[in-house]
Amino acid sequence: MKERIQATIWGGFAAALLGLLIVLGSRRLDHFDAALVGYTFATLFAMFGIAYRYAMWLQRPPTWRYWIRGWQLFLQPRYLGRNLVQLARRIGVMFALNAFIWRRDFLRGAAHWCLMWGCVIAAAITFPLVFGWIHFETVEGDLHSYRAFVFGFPTLAFPIHSWIAFIVFHGLVWASILVIAGVMLAMKRRMSDYGAAALQQFGEDYLPLIALFAISATGLMLTASYTWMRGYAYDFLAILHAITVILTLLWLPFGKFFHIFQRPAVRLAHARGGPGRGRASSRLPL
Ligand code: HEM
Repeated sequence: MKERIQATIWGGFAAALLGLLIVLGSRRLDHFDAALVGYTFATLFAMFGIAYRYAMWLQRPPTWRYWIRGWQLFLQPRYLGRNLVQLARRIGVMFALNAFIWRRDFLRGAAHWCLMWGCVIAAAITFPLVFGWIHFETVEGDLHSYRAFVFGFPTLAFPIHSWIAFIVFHGLVWASILVIAGVMLAMKRRMSDYGAAALQQFGEDYLPLIALFAISATGLMLTASYTWMRGYAYDFLAILHAITVILTLLWLPFGKFFHIFQRPAVRLAHARGGPGRGRASSRLPL
């Protein structure tokens, strides 16, 4: 019971902090689009759920001991320099390149890399836009240029018809292409690798892929609608995209996607050379 209360407090704190950052970052909601309120509440709920589950996980005696000992070892002055180098190497090799998974199997590595980078790019674009942390305005006296504002502060300006504008404004298209490629590769492996096929569970292995495919496909349909079809069914598609994103965000703390937040902690614990360094430590109880 005590654990649940503490986890609820952590969850509430994380959600309240994000809420505060949304209000501050959008300059008291000046740059917040009220039409996106559904996305915002789903994100706040996901934040609560993730922090709650993370706090519950950390409170398990083995996880807690591992966590504390790991940080103590990491911060030991004698090894701090070496540990920081090791941490930077792990962030590059393990996070950016996903080396740990390519080693297991090429198809698995390719699928994970595409899915991870597609989702990272999409999250880096959509959350700041939805929260009103980033917005674009035409430059005064030059109607052919846009300026990006971050947290209300003016930053770079660029011509509307430039390759930078094309790449920036199609960021979600590139993310969708990566995600769909990753989903296809993961589906192929799940269907053709007998070892993997025998262990598949619908909720753990197929549903996350179906959710990511639905988000990316509905997103791409939005782009197709306003680019080639003069906005045909745009409102309907916008609602469809919102439904797929919001349901996935609500599910984020409960299902497979929680590993996004849990696994890096385990991987970083490896980097700290903590107790149990090695394979067994990545199988911490949930
Ligand atoms: C895998 C993750 C995601 C992918 C691949 C994706 C993809 C896309 C694409 C391709 C578009 C059309 C963009 C355009 O051409 O203007 C779009 C629109 C949009 N996305 Fe997503 N998206 C993802 C996740 C999210 C998330 C997490 C949110 C919100 C928290 C979000 C909110 C939006 C919004 C608000 C729009 C504009 C829709 C409108 O005009 O009403 N997306 N997305």
